[in-house]
Amino acid sequence: MYKINEIQSLVNIEIDREIDRIKHTKPENLYEPMAYALEMGGKRLRPVMVLMATNLFDESIEKAFPAALAIEVFHNFTLLHDDIMDQAEMRRNALSVYKKYNPNIAILSGDAMSILAYHYLLKCNSSERNEMIHLFSQTALEVCEGQQLDMDFESRMDVSISEYLEMIRLKTAVLLACSLKLGAMASNAPNNAANLLYDFGLNLGIAFQLQDDLLDVFADQIKFGKRIGGDIVSNKKTFLLLKALELADDQTKAQIQDWITRTDFDESEKINAFKNIYNRLNIKMITEELISRYYETSIQICKKIALPSEAKTEMINLAEMIMNRDH
Ligand code: IPE
Ligand code: IPE
Ligand code: MG
Ligand code: MG
Ligand code: MG
Repeated sequence: MYKINEIQSLVNIEIDREIDRIKHTKPENLYEPMAYALEMGGKRLRPVMVLMATNLFDESIEKAFPAALAIEVFHNFTLLHDDIMDQAEMRRNALSVYKKYNPNIAILSGDAMSILAYHYLLKCNSSERNEMIHLFSQTALEVCEGQQLDMDFESRMDVSISEYLEMIRLKTAVLLACSLKLGAMASNAPNNAANLLYDFGLNLGIAFQLQDDLLDVFADQIKFGKRIGGDIVSNKKTFLLLKALELADDQTKAQIQDWITRTDFDESEKINAFKNIYNRLNIKMITEELISRYYETSIQICKKIALPSEAKTEMINLAEMIMNRDH
């Protein structure tokens, strides 16, 4: 069985090879931005998840390389468009694609990346390839649904925590779940195991997005690589904000509402105001508790997979590594 770092190296080699091919493809203004985005790296967690899931059932993991590549390129497509939608100028400590080039370029390169993902998937030789493509398209649609809900929620004040959880299940968690299940399917794993891996990924993915929301406020900007406070500036209905609204007294609630309705404001002043409110209401700890709950549920599900527990150690290590991230 492979160790996480060995799988990471294999993922890096595969992606670098693809970056090299993309870089030499024309027209430049379509392909160079893709290479730029992929070269910035990021954590490349999803392709690692694909291959680790394959490795649970099979020593030869190369058969899942096309699926791993498909997932990472698709993920990067979502980021190209997400940064336009969120007006986020920085990602992975560099200019986001729409800032470095322009929005039209980021839209079309992103579209092409989502199509490229299918190109890779079609290279997969598994007897379950059709089912894999079906799962992938279903997941891709759900990500779009989640993204639209995320945008719709910016201008709503009555978003409930359960609506928020459903939104992050769609925009983020299903892709982590899909990564694991695709990896399992590539090695013809039993359905029951593949479905448990999906549920494991779903719970881990919810914890992952909750953590992203937390890092958006409390991370170190250089480590995080994205602008701190972006969610606050754009009135994202994160768990932090919804919980604060729930716990706030009338005066604090009015203060939150006032900041949200203001159109002309100093961004750092707004970010600081929210940070103070979150600190006063102990929001960081409350969010961490919820993250732990989803993480624990994910581990319990992983333990149910009918494999010897030693076989699952590395997968549990990966989940733990994801939870301990600072970016
Ligand atoms: C960012 O995903 C988008 C979210 C779903 C929070 P990652 O945190 O995996 O981003 P990279 O690929 O490592 O940069
Ligand atoms: C990411 O949500 C979800 C998708 C990209 C589909 P965010 O908007 O929170 O992601 P970041 O923080 O910009 O990476
Ligand atoms: Mg964003
Ligand atoms: Mg977003
Ligand atoms: Mg975020």
